[in-house]
Amino acid sequence: AMGREDVVREELGSLHGIPLYKCFIEGWPQVEAFQARPDDLLIATYPKSGTTWLSEILDMIYHDGDVEKCRRDAIFNRVPFLEMKVPEMLSGIELLEKTPSPRLVKTHLPVWLLPTSFRDKDCKVIYMARNPKDVVVSYYYFYQMAKVHPDPGTLGEFLETFMAGKVAYGSWYEHVRGWWEKKQEKQLLYLFYEDMKKDPQQEVQKILRFLGKEVAEETVARILHHTSFQEMRKNPAANYETMPTTLMDHSLSPFLRKGISGDWKNHFTVAQNECFDQHYQEHMAGSDLHFQMEA
Ligand code: PPS
Repeated sequence: AMGREDVVREELGSLHGIPLYKCFIEGWPQVEAFQARPDDLLIATYPKSGTTWLSEILDMIYHDGDVEKCRRDAIFNRVPFLEMKVPEMLSGIELLEKTPSPRLVKTHLPVWLLPTSFRDKDCKVIYMARNPKDVVVSYYYFYQMAKVHPDPGTLGEFLETFMAGKVAYGSWYEHVRGWWEKKQEKQLLYLFYEDMKKDPQQEVQKILRFLGKEVAEETVARILHHTSFQEMRKNPAANYETMPTTLMDHSLSPFLRKGISGDWKNHFTVAQNECFDQHYQEHMAGSDLHFQMEA
């Protein structure tokens, strides 16, 4: 049988043209056949775009701001990761089967690969997007610490891989644009990491309106405090510290690394930035989707 070591630094496979971990691809038939429930709420993101932050906010909303209830388990168990499958751990699908409704579900799938059941059941979806320069830097550190990824090489090499759409989950452009095209559908709320950084209170209010929930002002304040970067970083139920170290090595880079907008400025050279801007303009041409590259 496969052990955890077998997935360490393994090359990516391909799922319908999307580069993805081979162990996830193995579990794909179960993901495709997944039966959503009408009250499932889907949290969809391209990797490193604020998934964990949004997940913690939603779990707090679902538990009326009860901090202790939100410490009941690690975030990756409280909000199962739909397509996740690694040896010696429950798969996302297995976890979801054990999770009582109403469930929060995490996915990084591009919209065209989403299991059809979510649409059939008319499930609500919250998508969060982050500017690609910060995503690529965050992803670069994540590739190093999360050993299910191949070696990322230098940042320069990783930038090339990212721009070519050859990182796990494929092209960032196709992902954010694909989900953006669905945003007229009233069951989808499209959020930005940069807005959440600038005015978390306003964004939490947007989420509450979208969910049709009323929450007392002091509860909102508690949610905002508990989900701040500083609080989440030291919270073992939110910071991924309890993941097996074969899979995540926080000594290489912590999962909650910096939590800011504009960190790319500390990493990109002037030439890399010009090249990236050029590529960005080509790939975002004709879209009314805009990103703030810093907060
Ligand atoms: S994953 O693996 O795709 O689910 O990662 P994801 O959670 O989407 O993204 C991780 C980045 O989000 C940052 N983060 C936060 N920023 C601000 N505030 C809070 N509370 C917060 N929680 C997580 C995390 O630090 C990663 O970004 P970087 O830039 O690497 O710090």
